Amino acid sequence: MPAILAIMYKWDSLLPFTEQNFRLQAVSELFLLWRKTKLPLIASENYQPNWFHKHLNTLKEIHLSFQIHCGIYSPGQEWKDMRSTLSPAFTSSKMRGMVPFMIDVNKQMVGVIKNKMQAAGTDYLDIECKDLTTRYANDVIASCAFGVKVDSHTEENNEFYTNGLATALAPFRRLLALGYSTFPSVMKKFNVKVFPTESKTFFKNLVLRTMKEREKHNIFRPDMIQLLMEAKKGKLTHDEKASTETDIGFAAVEESDIGKRKVNAVWTDDDLVAQAVVFFLAGFETISTTMSFILHELAMNPDVQEKLYAEIMENEARTSGKFDYNAVQNLTYLDCVITETLRLWPPLVALDRLCVKDYNLGRANRKCKKDFIIRKGESVAISVYSIHHDPKYFPEPYKFDPDRFSEENKHNIKPMTYMPFGVGPRNCIGARFALCELKVMIYQVLQHFEVKVCEKTMIPARLDTTTLSMGIHGGHWVRFKLRH
Ligand code: HEM
Repeated sequence: MPAILAIMYKWDSLLPFTEQNFRLQAVSELFLLWRKTKLPLIASENYQPNWFHKHLNTLKEIHLSFQIHCGIYSPGQEWKDMRSTLSPAFTSSKMRGMVPFMIDVNKQMVGVIKNKMQAAGTDYLDIECKDLTTRYANDVIASCAFGVKVDSHTEENNEFYTNGLATALAPFRRLLALGYSTFPSVMKKFNVKVFPTESKTFFKNLVLRTMKEREKHNIFRPDMIQLLMEAKKGKLTHDEKASTETDIGFAAVEESDIGKRKVNAVWTDDDLVAQAVVFFLAGFETISTTMSFILHELAMNPDVQEKLYAEIMENEARTSGKFDYNAVQNLTYLDCVITETLRLWPPLVALDRLCVKDYNLGRANRKCKKDFIIRKGESVAISVYSIHHDPKYFPEPYKFDPDRFSEENKHNIKPMTYMPFGVGPRNCIGARFALCELKVMIYQVLQHFEVKVCEKTMIPARLDTTTLSMGIHGGHWVRFKLRH
């Protein structure tokens, strides 16, 4: 169990559940610990999303420490304007243009794995998937967000990878980031920098240089840089078609009216650089974590893998090998597999909100004499992990069962009980991008390899308590076996 979650659970189980300990004072902020699904705020019928704004957010502080003015993580108008400006960049129609880049990066990765097998003279390879998928996620973001081609599987220490992962996301930096989400005022007071200066300079130069070159040579590439350039000119808008398209997956959350508003805000180059960096930071670890768990579950559940492989082969036959956005969108069992993995192993285990209006939750249990009121100004942590594992909402919650999300069963999922990408207007802006990326990878991996358990596969999987991110203790080891 990741450390942060462990703390929540430990506090929870150590103390008998009374109204007094329902509130725990954490330094300057009041942190409400959500007792295991006893009071699932957002599952309550009276929930008013507008009364809870996003509050504690590490990435906002990364922005501050990046020293680039930007509003996506700040509360209020600035965030609204940035969200409305950027949300058109993440509609299905824009994702369609980026899928070919993802396919290319994945082909590169498949080729590297095959070469390693050839060099070893075998038809299989035991792989630690977290490392593999971290490199894949790095190369996809490099291509889709920054417009550069890198191969982190071959050039293991390329500049992009080292500036991103090794520097910006090193364990020490994560601790600083956690500090910002737990004690923001203290961290701000001491002006602690989460984002290292050398990485900041690297990314800034990269984005601005690429934008300049594109302007100069009139280059069009349908990636994030292009969309950010359009956003700056006020040309990035929601197209009508996007709203009529079928969504990319069950887990995707519909953009709120805030995201669909038209805005006339003026953005500087620095604002745009900061956005590209935020996309990198927000979509890097989450993606590699999810992929590693999908591969683990596929190895552990060969029947699921067989069914998924059959769906992929069927698509290959139907489309004569044409793999594109339409194919990604139409593979229903692939969607079930990814949706279920995000339920069982949500990479972000909790959401945070700030109460902006007193909110009465009622009595916590029969022993309580008074209603429990969350007061304006208090912070709330919502345990996604607990709600996803509540047998009331998901029977046999620890079982990996993609069919929960099948066409016949998905109507049983209660609104607000499934939220790997969050809820409300501040949900994950990159959910569609993430789902495309995950689907492209799993499709192409299964096309070429069978994934199986090996000696090093951790059975049963236990969460690593020594890191801040979700991961299996001992690593995500599986065997990739070449399909003949
Ligand atoms: C499996 C992958 C991912 C998961 C599980 C995930 C999950 C989340 C969650 C839970 C939130 C907070 C939502 C809330 O508080 O209601 C969030 C916010 C966000 N995510 Fe993701 N994310 C993923 C991938 C991505 C990617 C690929 C990008 C960008 C390319 C991205 C960009 C963002 C941004 C910018 C926010 C802040 C949105 C705002 O405040 O308006 N995420 N994500």
